[in-house]
Amino acid sequence: MQDILTKKIFDVDEVRKDFPILSREVDGKPLVYFDNAATSQKPQSVINAISDYYSNYNANIHRGVYSISIKASEAYENAKIKVKEFINASSEREIIFTRGTTEAINLITYSYGLENVNEGDEIIISEMEHHANIVPWQVLCEKKKAALKVIPVNDSGELLIDEYKKLLSDKTKIVAIGHISNSLGTINPVKEIIRLAKEKSKDIAVVVDGAQAIHHTKVDVKDIGADFYVFSSHKMYGPMGIGVLYGRSELLEAMPPYQTGGDMISTVSFKGTTYNDIPMKFEAGTPNVEGAVGLTAAIDYINCIGFEAIHKQETELLEYATAQLNEINGLRIIGTAKKKTGVISFVVEGLNALDIGIMLDTNGVAVRTGQHCTEPLMDRFGVPGTVRASFAFYNTKEEIDIFVDALKKAIEILK
Ligand code: ALA
Repeated sequence: MQDILTKKIFDVDEVRKDFPILSREVDGKPLVYFDNAATSQKPQSVINAISDYYSNYNANIHRGVYSISIKASEAYENAKIKVKEFINASSEREIIFTRGTTEAINLITYSYGLENVNEGDEIIISEMEHHANIVPWQVLCEKKKAALKVIPVNDSGELLIDEYKKLLSDKTKIVAIGHISNSLGTINPVKEIIRLAKEKSKDIAVVVDGAQAIHHTKVDVKDIGADFYVFSSHKMYGPMGIGVLYGRSELLEAMPPYQTGGDMISTVSFKGTTYNDIPMKFEAGTPNVEGAVGLTAAIDYINCIGFEAIHKQETELLEYATAQLNEINGLRIIGTAKKKTGVISFVVEGLNALDIGIMLDTNGVAVRTGQHCTEPLMDRFGVPGTVRASFAFYNTKEEIDIFVDALKKAIEILK
């Protein structure tokens, strides 16, 4: 990492040395990790930051007058400032730490949704959403007798924006949309989606699920105009168990708490309780300090590599792999959007995705198989599931060669 800092030249072999797991073997074969859309690997700097926290200043925060508690509290608060700068929020008050993207969306549905959605109202999502951006809205609609409207996708896996325009109506209260599809890699035009919603009514709240975008592209919540933007640390080279809910302060201030207990209160008596200011109003209980420390180190790491280098490397990998896979007889790529990130989902005629995944594993290649938590999208494409290879900037063309060779062997054996 030091070299990158000084030279500002992206060297994948050097970068790989920052990730200890990438040099391990699986049954005597080098690990080829192509399941980055499920979770990313962690650089040594993130592992060290967490180890340093537990070795040197583990303490509960916002509660201690002693030095290590003060240091832990500062580390937690600094993580919010780091996230605020990373996504260009107006203030760290707009950054709430959650367990991950799923909990962030649930927080919005239970707090903002229950207050603002009523009988006969409509919520718009899309056909390519992850279950985490479908089910919470379905439950809210059931509770409030509201209707869920779904933007369809075309055969390439792109949103049909004209259909979206038709769905927007005076009844629309919320639009919830993924920035990048976890199953197809499609990059959605979120800025345009938000603009269209706001043109219809500035009171429509737009929620962007950024779980698959935050580590691939520079996110600027003010520029895109999102009311809420949510993501998970573990997809962006940080630890599991912590995620971010960004919300515009006016909205967060008006929203009731989602969970209640310690730290989210201002005063408590048996006559009644008053709540803390944002963001603490939404953070009941002891927070994930270790996660915040790790996330800070992950953001430092991404900033050090830079999105330009990340984009260049991931685009090269996507193009290289797509060209090779297109040469394989009977293989069909699901998701061929013009704007795509490094995700390739595919099916092979006559073969089961799970069998292919198991065969690839015997060659050290880790991919995800199945529905990828997007069952409606699989139904849309008429497939029970796919094999999904998803790349990160630390992957290489040599790894793609290993993957393609292993895939060809698997197809031969399974046919
Ligand atoms: N949402 C993660 C994936 O796409 C788990 O694999």
